[in-house]
Amino acid sequence: MRRLLVTGGAGFIGSNFIHHVLGHTDHHVTVLDKLTYAGNRASLAGLPENRITFVEGDIADGPLVDELFAAVNDVVHYAAESHNDNSLNDPRPFVDTNIIGTYTLLEAARKYDRRLHHISTDEVYGDLELDDPARFTESTPYNPSSPYSSTKAGSDLLVRAWVRSFGVRATISNCSNNYGPYQHVEKFIPRQITNVLRGIRPKLYGAGENVRDWIHADDHSSAVMTILDKGEMGETYLIGADGEKDNKTVVELILDLMGEARDAYDHVTDRAGHDMRYAIDSTKLRSTLGWSPTYRDFEAGLEATIQWYRDHEDWWAPAKDGVEAFYASKGQ
Ligand code: NAD
Ligand code: DAU
Repeated sequence: MRRLLVTGGAGFIGSNFIHHVLGHTDHHVTVLDKLTYAGNRASLAGLPENRITFVEGDIADGPLVDELFAAVNDVVHYAAESHNDNSLNDPRPFVDTNIIGTYTLLEAARKYDRRLHHISTDEVYGDLELDDPARFTESTPYNPSSPYSSTKAGSDLLVRAWVRSFGVRATISNCSNNYGPYQHVEKFIPRQITNVLRGIRPKLYGAGENVRDWIHADDHSSAVMTILDKGEMGETYLIGADGEKDNKTVVELILDLMGEARDAYDHVTDRAGHDMRYAIDSTKLRSTLGWSPTYRDFEAGLEATIQWYRDHEDWWAPAKDGVEAFYASKGQ
């Protein structure tokens, strides 16, 4: 039995990963999560209590991190401030958690010689033009745009430096936009689904031409498990499922699947510095480690996600009014 430490395990992708791990392995999971506005213990409800230990705390708390690293085999690092719009409003927590927090984990990995897998984003590569045939690869130069993506880029570079300078056993993955259950209502897809459920018109930033490369969170989890099992130390792997869609198409599909008119949405103030397009070439992960995605039908995955939000109003409702008040104050 392996003992995993999962940081940020009460967040969207971390909690999906824990559901995946407990369903597919006999590993024990210790969660380290600060329970910020984005963390929710209810996302881990119903999991077998003898296989999961929950620790509320900060990844930047060195003594706590040391104690936890000493007791596990491997660490998967999801914890982050993750929302671009929040990073434009108040960048400081992004520096504290994404940079100082990751530094703190790297120092513990070095001290206790623990394997660390660092979860990152395709946003470190900046954005692509709509008509550019290129997609991001592991050799695309870093060019982040926002306070969020620049702090994630900084955290990736720290990991690379700790591998090269101190021989830390680490891997990195950069994934595209995730969708699925347990995603906070501040994010694009859950915001629009819960808007429709509340009788509010969906809100599209600017013209809605921006393209995101959607992957189901469970496919992200299986890719991370593959890298944990078979990844080569020091390597970076891009994770994506060929899911490019522009935002307007996604909003229209949500409205359609929820029985509303396809044009029943509003255009609102655009995001400052809004990245135009992300697109992932995941050939390296597929060809060297043999991973492939399971959720190949975006419409079916979106329909199941809509149903999850219909069935779990108790999970999302407490955050909804505050999120909409924040967006309204920004004209969004
Ligand atoms: P999220 O905001 O839903 O969850 C983040 C979790 O981290 C929360 O549970 C929060 O309480 C916790 N956390 C925040 N600061 C902490 C701290 N200082 N110490 C301990 N815990 C802390 O984020 P998410 O969407 O699940 O993203 C998880 C990771 O995946 C992030 O590293 C993000 O950059 C990366 N990522 C996200 C996406 C996406 O589409 N959401 C895509 C690619 C990569
Ligand atoms: O690419 C990976 C990244 O995907 C992750 O690193 C981030 O943690 C994650 O939040 C996500 O970033 P985005 O900024 O792409 O996601 P978001 O859900 O905020 O927005 C998706 C797109 O939808 C983006 O083009 C902005 C737009 N949008 C967003 C909201 C909240 C709208 O048009 N309307 C909205 O109400």
